[in-house]
Amino acid sequence: MTPIRLGVNVDHVATLRNARGGTHPDPLAAARLVLEHGADSITIHLREDRRHIRDADCRAMRQALTAPINLEMAATAEMQAIALSLRPHACCIVPERRAEVTTEGGLDAAGGEANLAPLVSALNGAGIRTSLFLDPDPHQVEAAARLGARAVELHTGRFCDALPGPARDAELARLREAARLVAAAGMECHAGHGLDYDTAPLLAAIPEVVELNIGHFLMGQALFEGLPAAVSRMRQVMERARRT
Ligand code: PXP
Repeated sequence: MTPIRLGVNVDHVATLRNARGGTHPDPLAAARLVLEHGADSITIHLREDRRHIRDADCRAMRQALTAPINLEMAATAEMQAIALSLRPHACCIVPERRAEVTTEGGLDAAGGEANLAPLVSALNGAGIRTSLFLDPDPHQVEAAARLGARAVELHTGRFCDALPGPARDAELARLREAARLVAAAGMECHAGHGLDYDTAPLLAAIPEVVELNIGHFLMGQALFEGLPAAVSRMRQVMERARRT
């Protein structure tokens, strides 16, 4: 089976740093550490309000790291210009509302096809792997394929929020079916949002899913067991689920 990759989102290291306005803790140092302990790539979300990762963080990581950087961004002209100048390995287009605490729900690729088309084509043209963050909905996956996205990241928030039982099983079934459709359309399937040691293995066991992007849980868990231990343990539980 295709190996599963772990992308670690270091936004919350910047959240903590920004709380005091200084330079500690440094998201770049956290990125280096997680790469040493089992992460394959670094995910950063440059939000319109710059509440965590800032422009200077993006530039510092791009300069210092050889590992792939996945820049999450809203579909705006400002972010397109930044992505084209930064040239990260990958961009994941996410919906963004100023008042939200975190990314709530997937992008409406089907409803926003006309607006997204020039952005996806510009990023693809620059050799950036373009991904769309979508709810596990067949209509959205079809729109991503029409747009020429190279990957789809399935939003696992609803699944992770559900208690174990029929509702959660139904969500997992939707994710499985969406992953099958993504791969059948020739795109890479990724997944993320809200994943932890219990839920990440269930996604890692879906053969079409080749990358998980995980942030909040790992950073919270780092308080108790340390960041290197949390990242290595996440990698282990993902790989075990993949093998079985
Ligand atoms: N993937 C995407 C596209 C996201 O927007 C987020 C949250 O920023 C994540 C993954 C990581 O989610 P979490 O921090 O809940 O692990």
